Amino acid sequence: MNIEQLAAELESAAPHDEQSLEQFRIRFLGSKNVLKDLYAAIKDIPNEQKRSYGLQVNALKERAEQKFLEAKTKLTTVNTGIKKEDLSKPSADTKVGAHHPLSLIRSEILSIFKRIGFEISEGPEIEDDWHNFSALNFPPEHPARDMQDTFFIEKGTNELALRTHTSSVQVRVMEQQEPPIRTISPGRVYRNEAISARAHCFFHQVEGLYIDQDVSFADLKQTLLYFAQELFGAQTQIRLRPSYFPFTEPSAEVDISCTLCASKGCNVCKHTGWLEIMGCGMVDPNVLEACGIDSKVYSGFAFGMGLERIAQLKFRVTDLRLYSENDMRFLRQFKSGMA
Ligand code: PHE
Repeated sequence: MNIEQLAAELESAAPHDEQSLEQFRIRFLGSKNVLKDLYAAIKDIPNEQKRSYGLQVNALKERAEQKFLEAKTKLTTVNTGIKKEDLSKPSADTKVGAHHPLSLIRSEILSIFKRIGFEISEGPEIEDDWHNFSALNFPPEHPARDMQDTFFIEKGTNELALRTHTSSVQVRVMEQQEPPIRTISPGRVYRNEAISARAHCFFHQVEGLYIDQDVSFADLKQTLLYFAQELFGAQTQIRLRPSYFPFTEPSAEVDISCTLCASKGCNVCKHTGWLEIMGCGMVDPNVLEACGIDSKVYSGFAFGMGLERIAQLKFRVTDLRLYSENDMRFLRQFKSGMA
C-alpha cells in the first residue's frame, strides 16, 4: 500500500465501538502497524524525495494517533455518560466550616460545670412575669420590669415578655425538681437597649444554680475559683465585690485577675488588674419559698454570666455587633477552635 491509499483508508475509518477501535489501533498504531512498512520503504526512495516522504509518513502517524484518541474519548463519553476521571488527581478544595465563637465558649463553659456534676437545663425565650420576675423576688415596681429594659409581648394579668435572663429557667427547675439541684442554664436573653459596640438588644447567658442542705458562701467562692481557673488558666485569681440582685442575698460581682497583663494593669482592665465577669449570690429564701422549696432546710447559690463578655476576653473581640452580623471574615477566624 502506498501513502495515498493509506491516507484515504485512515480518513474513511470510523471506529464506533470498542472492537472497531481496537482494530484501528492494531492496524495503525500496534506493534506491527502498516506505517512500519512505509517507514521501512524509505530506503528505496530516491534521496531528494526522502525528506518529503518522511514528513508525509510522520503526518500520517500523527493523524492516526489523533483519530484514535478522538474516537476513544467519544466512545467512553457516549457509553458511560461520564468522563473517566483521573483518580490520582488531588481532590477539590473542600470548604470547612467553623463553630461560632459563642458556641465554642458555651460548650467549654458547660463542660467545665458538667465535670463537677451540673446538669444542663433549657427553657422558653418567651416568658411570663412569674418566671422572669415575680418568683425571683422582683418587687412590682422594680425598674428592671420597666419598658426600658424588657421587651413586653402582652400586657395584662399574665404578662408575656422576652426573657431578660435565664434565671427564669432555674425557677422552672426549682418548681419541678426536689433538691439537691445542680443546674446550668445556657440561652439567649433580650433587653431593650440601643445597639452599639458595647450593648445589644440580645445576648447570651450561662446561669448556674446549686441547692442542697448547708450550701455556704464558701462553696460558691470555691466553685467560681475552680471555674475561673479551668477557663482562664491555673494562675487566675478571683475577687468578689458586694452588689445587689433581687434574687440573691448577699450578692456579689465576680472579678478575675486580668489575664492579659497578669494584673499589672492594661487598657482592657482599665489599669485595675481586674476584669468583671459575672454576678452571683446566695439564693434569697423568698425565691426558694416561691418555688416550693423549704428555705429552713435548704440553701443555695446562683451565678450568671454573659457569653459575649467571656468571649471578648478569650478572643479579644471588642465590638459586640460582630457576633450577630455573620461576616464570614470574622467567623472564619475561629476554624481552629475546639467544640
Ligand atoms: N440574672 C442575673 C443577670 O441577668 C445574673 C445573676 C444570676 C446574678 C445569678 C446573681 C445570681 O444579670
